[in-house]
Amino acid sequence: MILENNRMLRAETAPGTESSFAARARQVLRQNDMGDWTRAAPNLYPHQWSWDSAFIAIGLAHLGPRRAARELLALFEHQWRTGKVPHIVFNPEAPQDSYFPGPDHWACAAASPDAPPAPPYTSCLCQPPVHAIAALRVWEVAERSGGEEAQEARAFLRQLYPKLLLWHRYLMTHRDPEETGLVTIYHPWESGTDNSPRWDAPLSNVEVGDLPPYPRYDLRHVANVSERPTGADYDRYLWLVKLIKKAGCNEKDIYHSHPFLVKDVLLSAILVAANETLLEIAALIGAERGDHTLIASWIARGHRGLNAMWDPELGLSLDYDLRTRRSLRARTVAGFAALIAGRQGRRRLEALMVTLDSPAFLGHPWLRWSLPPSTSPFDEGFHRRSYWRGPTWPVVNWLLWWSFLRAGELRRAESLRQGSLQQIASSGFGEYFDPFVGESLGAADQSWTAAVTLDWLANEPRQGGRKVA
Ligand code: DGY
Repeated sequence: MILENNRMLRAETAPGTESSFAARARQVLRQNDMGDWTRAAPNLYPHQWSWDSAFIAIGLAHLGPRRAARELLALFEHQWRTGKVPHIVFNPEAPQDSYFPGPDHWACAAASPDAPPAPPYTSCLCQPPVHAIAALRVWEVAERSGGEEAQEARAFLRQLYPKLLLWHRYLMTHRDPEETGLVTIYHPWESGTDNSPRWDAPLSNVEVGDLPPYPRYDLRHVANVSERPTGADYDRYLWLVKLIKKAGCNEKDIYHSHPFLVKDVLLSAILVAANETLLEIAALIGAERGDHTLIASWIARGHRGLNAMWDPELGLSLDYDLRTRRSLRARTVAGFAALIAGRQGRRRLEALMVTLDSPAFLGHPWLRWSLPPSTSPFDEGFHRRSYWRGPTWPVVNWLLWWSFLRAGELRRAESLRQGSLQQIASSGFGEYFDPFVGESLGAADQSWTAAVTLDWLANEPRQGGRKVA
């Protein structure tokens, strides 16, 4: 079967041909295209999600850097005055019963003095800051084609740069008043890894009060309800939203009173990597010297924070609950945060690779593809079909692939690229995949899955060097 899939992948990605695989990925992005922005998925996610859009821009760059740039600019039009980039910008044309909690639920966020003009309404949460990484990628693709596209992409970087700087400043200040270098999240949705066992302990301390009945439209769009978070999870999610709204989305009030305040190592590591790319953007557009110094200080602080979260026994980084002052001992892909932050010494990098190769992750004998499950099968919270409790996620694999390339671990990067493409080629552009049988789960035609596929296809290693997209 594996041989057959390898053959299929080779045929699909033969050099010099527009493979049907790439054509299908482009088709998914086109079908979800709303003009200036892209739906995360056609039914389950009919709005613009923040980190989805960043990955989508990476894929769109291969359809045309101009459209990719618009994706990011459209998102940043709804940036809050504080610098926050909202985790959802709601599509006013989406049917009311398509997604919950939708724009009505969040409309009160628009009353905050920091909110952008509405409609469209936005949520007042945020998501991992992949945007600077995406913006640089768009420029890299445009630069390769040269001429007008490259010039336009440089203008795009100039336009986006101050917004990116403000976004990162928001995370480094409002979300890290203690100056630890680690970002605090107020809600599991901010981590992007909603029902991961990472959040089981802090969520168990959240006492849910009176909640009116609410619909679970998401359950209509999956083959089996076990693929989505449970009712108990959702009660807590909605209760936390209620408290955030009660605090008027005011950062200081939330920090003071909120029952869920966690230092998220994955988000913090993505911010370190995003600050590295922001430094590159600053150099490309000739930003002020002071900006370079500031961003470099954020990177150093981020590394210090992450170093403190390293658990030598598990060989992973651990999140930290500010309320109970305890590390959260879940074994999940977020534990590879140090790899994503980059610039690790040889010993730390080797320790991470030992953990990755161990039976807790890639060495597990039942894996369909050699790709890391979102939660280790050894973790008591593991569930192979439930969202972030076990399934493999192409965007996480993209981040690990990109990080291995940056670390010079080309063989490992290539193995992740191949495995990911094989999984998607054989099961489709699903949202996530059962790690043991490879079945596609969650939403079908997920935009970011198509997007990272296009980026992987454009980055086949060449003999004597890597083709840079
Ligand atoms: C969802 O609805 O599943 C999202 O992850 C929340 O943003």
